Amino acid sequence: MKILTSPSVLACDFLHLADEIRRADASGSDWLHCDVMDGMFVPNMSFGFDTIRAINTVSDLPLDVHMMTCVPQNYLDALKDAGADIVTIHNDIGLTEDELMEVLKNIHARGMKAAISLKPKFPAETVFPFMEELDMVLIMTVEPGFGGQKFMPDMLEKIASVRRRANEMGKEMDIQVDGGINAANAALAAAYGANVFVVGTASFRAPDMKVALDDVKKAAEEAYGKNL
Ligand code: DX5
Ligand code: ZN
Repeated sequence: MKILTSPSVLACDFLHLADEIRRADASGSDWLHCDVMDGMFVPNMSFGFDTIRAINTVSDLPLDVHMMTCVPQNYLDALKDAGADIVTIHNDIGLTEDELMEVLKNIHARGMKAAISLKPKFPAETVFPFMEELDMVLIMTVEPGFGGQKFMPDMLEKIASVRRRANEMGKEMDIQVDGGINAANAALAAAYGANVFVVGTASFRAPDMKVALDDVKKAAEEAYGKNL
């Protein structure tokens, strides 16, 4: 699997958003991770479509939008219009399996990639019914809502279960990890099958963003799949 980094814009200096996005671009980021929080699905608010649109005007990188919101299905046109390339929704938004499947299809119908994210308490099996329709699974390695938290090693086995299931299906699916990621635990997560690394605090707030992202990528590339 190709190893990718997706710096989380949540950790940037918002006073200088355009410069921060250019800095991420110049540091070799593969994607940009945009965290949308509505103050209901998670106990925090972040930014919305106008900010995503603004980010899109200064970067050609794929925008990886993590919807930590109660009704993401109502905003697919707004996401497309703002420039989202990948839309991640959570599984626990009060929809049935069929309804969630429908949302994934609606994301695809708009030409965007579709992903489901699992909070720490949801086991790997929760995403298995959706695998055919998924481009990516996001395994949260912290409770969603805030940057700067500590990586939860308990999530490693979950990553491996999802990767094994994808491999059994012959599916080259991205597995993303998000929360407290740095080079040391990126190596661990990669060993268990993760290939896309959201890096917030450890990228934007590192002394040198390019060095930090290169370190994450190198560590993950060396370790990928070793514990599968
Ligand atoms: C947390 C967000 C993350 C966060 C990651 O709810 O989903 O994307 O910004 O930031 P760090 O890497 O600082 O944990
Ligand atoms: Zn996120």
